[in-house]
Amino acid sequence: MKKPTIILGVTGGIACYKSADLVSRLVKKGFDVHVIMTRNATEFITPLTFQKLSSHKVVTNMFEKTATFSVEHISLAQIADLFVVVPASANFIGKMANGLADDMLTTTVMATKAPVIIAPAMNTAMWNNSILKDNIEKLKKYGVIIVDPAEGRLACGDFGKGKLAEMDDIMQVIEKKLVDIL
Ligand SMILES: Cc1cc2nc3c(=O)[nH]c(=O)nc-3n(C[C@H](O)[C@H](O)[C@H](O)COP(=O)(O)O)c2cc1C
Repeated sequence: MKKPTIILGVTGGIACYKSADLVSRLVKKGFDVHVIMTRNATEFITPLTFQKLSSHKVVTNMFEKTATFSVEHISLAQIADLFVVVPASANFIGKMANGLADDMLTTTVMATKAPVIIAPAMNTAMWNNSILKDNIEKLKKYGVIIVDPAEGRLACGDFGKGKLAEMDDIMQVIEKKLVDIL
């Protein structure tokens, strides 16, 4: 039986390192995982880590010259059984909610027909920002599943809501959705 394919988007935030654990868990569960990183995410963690964990080349650049003629953002969008973005930055959420497609991740997520799950992570003030809240509501309206951030001490020293949800909770949401759709 074909392994379910998960496309994992990683955006620029402190919680990026936790997505490496997510890839490892998903691969151990038998899923085929392909990672797309934003350019800013590569400031926090290198593509090599995800490449090794997923056993696939990590895509970061829309305009990379490839040996094949396939249009990568379309092919990744099409092979996805599920599209997951962990962590999802305020910037990514703003772009997705407003239909912007200016990099590999936002373009691919727009091109996919697969269900989308995002796990936001950001500073509490950003999470409480009214524009961000509107964008989250808009994404929910379009069927995007949001794994709400947790409360706790944030990397910036603040205390409040904004920490990436526990990995066990994110895994549970992913596995439940896969059971529903496969
Ligand atoms: C040290 C540092 C930590 C950051 N952490 C976060 C974060 O947790 N969440 C967030 O939304 N933005 C965070 N940012 C800001 C994003 O990196 C910035 O908005 C960037 O444009 C996001 O780009 P991307 O969405 O294309 O990955 C952080 C920036 C720095 C320098």
